[in-house]
Amino acid sequence: MMKSLKRAAITSVGHYLPPDIYDNKFFESYLDTSDQWIRERTGIQERRVLKQGGTSDMAVPAIEMCLNRRGITAEEIECIVVATVTPDMLFPSTSSLIQGKIGAKNAWGFDLEAACSSFLYALNVATRLIESGAHTKVLVVGADKMTAITDYQDRNTCVLFGDGAGAVLLEPIEDESLGLIDFDLKTDSTCGKFLYMPAGGSLLPPSIETVTNRQHYVIQDGKTVFKSAVPGMADAAESMMRRNNLSPDDIRWLVPHQANLRIISATAERMGLPMEKVMVNIHKYGNTTSATLPICLSEWWEQGLLDKGDGVVLVTFGAGYTYGGGYIKWAY
Ligand code: UT7
Repeated sequence: MMKSLKRAAITSVGHYLPPDIYDNKFFESYLDTSDQWIRERTGIQERRVLKQGGTSDMAVPAIEMCLNRRGITAEEIECIVVATVTPDMLFPSTSSLIQGKIGAKNAWGFDLEAACSSFLYALNVATRLIESGAHTKVLVVGADKMTAITDYQDRNTCVLFGDGAGAVLLEPIEDESLGLIDFDLKTDSTCGKFLYMPAGGSLLPPSIETVTNRQHYVIQDGKTVFKSAVPGMADAAESMMRRNNLSPDDIRWLVPHQANLRIISATAERMGLPMEKVMVNIHKYGNTTSATLPICLSEWWEQGLLDKGDGVVLVTFGAGYTYGGGYIKWAY
């Protein structure tokens, strides 16, 4: 049977952050670093740490918050797209594990990995699942247990990352002027070597050597990535504004990937936006990779700061490189 094609919209949001905290003093106690350096260079003050369990254990409470706010059960979900670089295990997919844990017995699903851009990539794919008429209720989850792949002996990276999860529900919407309006996503594979995790995949399976050489952790040439991330995020934001004829007045919120406050500020400046219009929580959670954008959306909605009709621009930049933007007219 032909189904009518409709715009997709986010109709609920949820998030979860584990209660344990590593503040900057924690790193001062054993590394050659300082609270002042971390704050000034990154904007981060503390990050959350999942002490027990895997990524799915954060995704489940985020989803439950999302479904409760919408007033629907897990059985109504048709598809679960999980954006993550830290799946519980290589297979089954974290989506499969979550499907069982929440009792979404009518849902299929899959994991999608595009480093820090995973959530925006997943949001784009899920939007097409709704617009095509294939589905009417799709969950998009961004969740990462970054502490599982962070080298706590490497001061260049360990201060940056934290754990967390966010979830959004996508449904069709009648009003064509609202919802998920535009995406412009990019990949630039020439720079993959500057941010990667060398071992654990098929190229370098786990061995005594890979463990001894500390190759199961994030490795980053921070300065080089920084130099690409600043123009990359700003270009993505400008593209969203140009393609959708947006002036700064049309944008209520910029939702940037939370990797570094200096990258976020530079993006806002290029867009002509004051920082009051930028969602920032990096000081509390650090970089939660796939979870940064949905945690922002859920926290701001919770505070009553997202209203129907608001123009929202999402931008991201991560390993690959993967980067890009999305434009939403908030629908509920
Ligand atoms: O999310 C995915 C995409 N990732 C990003 O967007 C991250 C992009 N990069 C960054 O955010 C920044 O490059 C960092 C925060 C990672 C580093 O900041 P930076 O201002 O670029 O510092 P740097 O790497 O140029 O290092 C400056 C100095 C170095 O010392 P020397 O060589 O000048 O003596 C580092 O060894 O700071 C040193 N350093 C530290 N010092 C104290 C590096 N990490 C630390 C630390 N504490 N934790």
